[in-house]
Amino acid sequence: MNNLQKLLSLAQTAASNAYCPYSHFSVGAAIESTDGKFYSGCNVENISFPVGTCAEAGAIAAMIANGSTKIQNILIYAPSQKLITPCGACRQRIAEFSTPETIIYLAGIDGISKSYGINELLPSSFSEF
Ligand code: THU
Repeated sequence: MNNLQKLLSLAQTAASNAYCPYSHFSVGAAIESTDGKFYSGCNVENISFPVGTCAEAGAIAAMIANGSTKIQNILIYAPSQKLITPCGACRQRIAEFSTPETIIYLAGIDGISKSYGINELLPSSFSEF
């Protein structure tokens, strides 16, 4: 299994564990960090809707908690024919831990179909103050 297949498999497993009783829309995210480790996360909703968290946030939290610091590749998967792209807040989260080489892959039930750099998804981002 190559690294992209591994990312897809991890994201699919995470999506299958998503807690999404309100939207019924499961999302999984998987990260390969620059030090070659793999992490995943899923969306975790809450009855108080704004408290819910996105799959990307979970995967990034797992990466940071385990000592990796940068994203080499991140794959976002939803079991849907229509590809989803990261929400605005998650673009900012991904930007925080990206390098110019970071690639964001999007996958749906038909497999991995698109890839982006963070500058395409979040141009002119807020990155210093
Ligand atoms: N969701 C994610 O997990 N990631 C995204 O980038 C977009 C949206 C989740 C949040 C919510 O639980 C569900 O998808 C429907 O919006």
